[in-house]
Amino acid sequence: MQIFGVDIGGSGIKGAPVDLDRGDLAKERFKVLTPRPATPEGVADGVQQVVDHFGWTGPVGLTFPGVVTGGSTIRTAANVDKSWIDTDARALFSSRLGGLPVTVVNDADAAGVAEVNFGAGRGRRGTVILLTFGTGIGSALFIDGTLVPNTELGHLELHGHDAEKRASSKVKDDEELTWEHWAHRVQKYLDHVEMLFSPELFIIGGGVSRKSQKFLHLIEGIRAEIVPAQLQNNAGIVGAAMRAAEGE
Ligand code: BGC
Repeated sequence: MQIFGVDIGGSGIKGAPVDLDRGDLAKERFKVLTPRPATPEGVADGVQQVVDHFGWTGPVGLTFPGVVTGGSTIRTAANVDKSWIDTDARALFSSRLGGLPVTVVNDADAAGVAEVNFGAGRGRRGTVILLTFGTGIGSALFIDGTLVPNTELGHLELHGHDAEKRASSKVKDDEELTWEHWAHRVQKYLDHVEMLFSPELFIIGGGVSRKSQKFLHLIEGIRAEIVPAQLQNNAGIVGAAMRAAEGE
């Protein structure tokens, strides 16, 4: 079975039909640039271009970088245009897509669902936490493979700061931190998350997971196993399609 997945990110809107049995893209993905400012109307234009590129007419799952309730309503917008807050994103996208059935899910939750089913967390029981390090920090919490949605652990307070303002990979770039310095901050952050949840496994996702050999070995003193995400660029697309298939 195939469902269309779209990943709405800070720089690009990417999508492709997803083969749900394999947990992989059924066709090469298509990408358009995310408009600036990334307003609901502008992003909906981009989504329409991506879906129309494939002439898709079935269900569509989309990611969003904020809290999304009921597969539909946007509740927070930490790193995107504030006009998203309280938008009925399902209605917005569905009407742009000629009435196709639409499900919207948090970006980190989507990536986590893909990793837990087809990637680094496959077959793992107990508490598993995926953290994405990018513009912000996203989180996905699983108990025996079941997602607890919208955990927002990137906004935990760390030394008096919003954690993602200290340890995202954007902060590493903006403050020109060395890998050692940044890894130290990530370690403090993981230590805090571990104190709260005692997970068996941390999966490190986001663009920076491709460079895990540069920093994972620098993180010490965490009890849980720490592994890089495996699906990397396509995890959001695959996970959004999976959530749509579950009728979220
Ligand atoms: C948002 C999360 C999102 C994460 C990664 C955070 O700022 O609050 O909802 O998952 O960034 O995009």
